[in-house]
Amino acid sequence: MSCPADDNDYMPQADHLPERGSLRPVLYWAVLTSAIVAVGCGSEAPESKALKAGSAQSVLRGKTLISQYQCGSCHTIPGVSDARGLTAVSLEGFGRRSYIGGRIPNQPSALSAWLVDPHSQAPSATMPYLAVSPADAMDMANYLGTLQ
Ligand code: HEC
Repeated sequence: MSCPADDNDYMPQADHLPERGSLRPVLYWAVLTSAIVAVGCGSEAPESKALKAGSAQSVLRGKTLISQYQCGSCHTIPGVSDARGLTAVSLEGFGRRSYIGGRIPNQPSALSAWLVDPHSQAPSATMPYLAVSPADAMDMANYLGTLQ
């Protein structure tokens, strides 16, 4: 038995390949069209569509999770029908707020960290730890970010 590398027939033969020169126009055409396609797609590239759909799904999941975690027993939260609590601050217009708990800049990552464990973000926070998973927290933070 011989190794494929030892076998001359395995190697492409020069006379099977098109002439170097004849490939050039084809290559230019291929490069040009792929560039046009890339520019033409712009922001509507398939990945960005998937991303938009993903975040819309995350917002929807977040809304459901806010009901499930019963955030509304303390907070009034627009769009969540059973969230009419008055013992904590209303989350109306939360997407426009500059700070979380008046202390932490309101960014999605900081907000989801707050939801996982408020005291890790602000030791004096009066919101209790609710055993929220990081994935659930991100979805809920995305929902709260839509509140204008
Ligand atoms: C037991 C009552 C209680 C529950 C349940 C509760 N929170 Fe809170 N929450 C608070 C209190 C009290 C504060 C004020 C904390 C502070 O500033 O120290 C707060 C603060 C917040 C803030 C910051 C508000 C602001 O004005 O900056 C957000 C956002 C928030 N909660 C979201 C949630 C979400 C989402 C849930 C459900 C996962 C939830 N909370 C469940 C009591 C609660």
